[in-house]
Amino acid sequence: MKIRLVGGVMLTAISVVLFGSCVSDKDSSGLEYMPDMYRSPAIEPYVDYGQIQGREDAELALQQSALTPPHGTIPYYGTNQEDVTLMLPWEILPNAVFAQTHGLKGFDFADPEEDTYENDAAAWTWNPLKLEIQANLEGEEVVRKNLTLANAKKLYAANCMHCHGEKGDGNGPMMASGAYSGVPNYKDKASLADGQLFYSIYYGKGMMGSHASQLNKKEIWSLVHYIRKFQDADYDKSAMESVTLKDGQKEVTKMVEVSAAPKVEVDPEADVDPEMEPTEEN
Ligand code: HEC
Repeated sequence: MKIRLVGGVMLTAISVVLFGSCVSDKDSSGLEYMPDMYRSPAIEPYVDYGQIQGREDAELALQQSALTPPHGTIPYYGTNQEDVTLMLPWEILPNAVFAQTHGLKGFDFADPEEDTYENDAAAWTWNPLKLEIQANLEGEEVVRKNLTLANAKKLYAANCMHCHGEKGDGNGPMMASGAYSGVPNYKDKASLADGQLFYSIYYGKGMMGSHASQLNKKEIWSLVHYIRKFQDADYDKSAMESVTLKDGQKEVTKMVEVSAAPKVEVDPEADVDPEMEPTEEN
């Protein structure tokens, strides 16, 4: 009985191998039992319908297969009003040519007649994201952590460091390998407004691609804070120190607004002379 069973299993295994090798194409799995289990019909949003099982429809292959969300909708980010406000579409629109140069799909673009392009004074806006700071009592000592920057550090390592470098000096491994060039040192970008940094990270700039599909707006604003920290090691010092423990308190977490930068009201009607902008770069 046992021998029969083993024999049966072996016979099945041998026939699978034999039938499986009945083809000359080394990339083919051979005779397929129920091919739909190997290759199910593609009904997923990101599958390229232009290429199904050897057939190709050149026209379809160039189209985005994912459905675009209805215009004006935003993803659900919970009910915290500050978070939701951060996620609303940004009021500064990208230059229309970014559709081609930086592959922006499904975006509203600035009217080419209006002066809402990069380095425009309208980008002279400030970071709306508060820093989340935690103070802990460890023994006698109060230890503070900037949770926003700790999270931004992870985002930076995953999305930016290979070009911009661990120290933000523009010497990431991509530069070292010689594969890429022209990445600036963040220290040379200290005169740019938060809004300008956001604009460039969100929509892209020159040889840097857009990060709109990888990072949400809150994450990008946290990276803007992180870049400021590269530029000035004391950037979050006063915010950190403002979080203190009351008597008997062991731990506290607070959201602190960074008000280092003056709020500049921009009059959209004003005719801005580019020479007068508070930037030295570009
Ligand atoms: C593929 C390489 C690459 C990656 C990845 C990259 N950058 Fe850049 N970045 C560049 C280059 C190149 C420039 C210079 C663009 C120019 O001035 O034309 C630049 C410029 C910038 C600037 C200056 C913008 C300005 O207005 O002058 C900021 C800020 C910046 N990057 C932040 C980031 C952040 C944050 C990330 C990660 C989310 C990131 N970059 C990812 C290559 C990269």
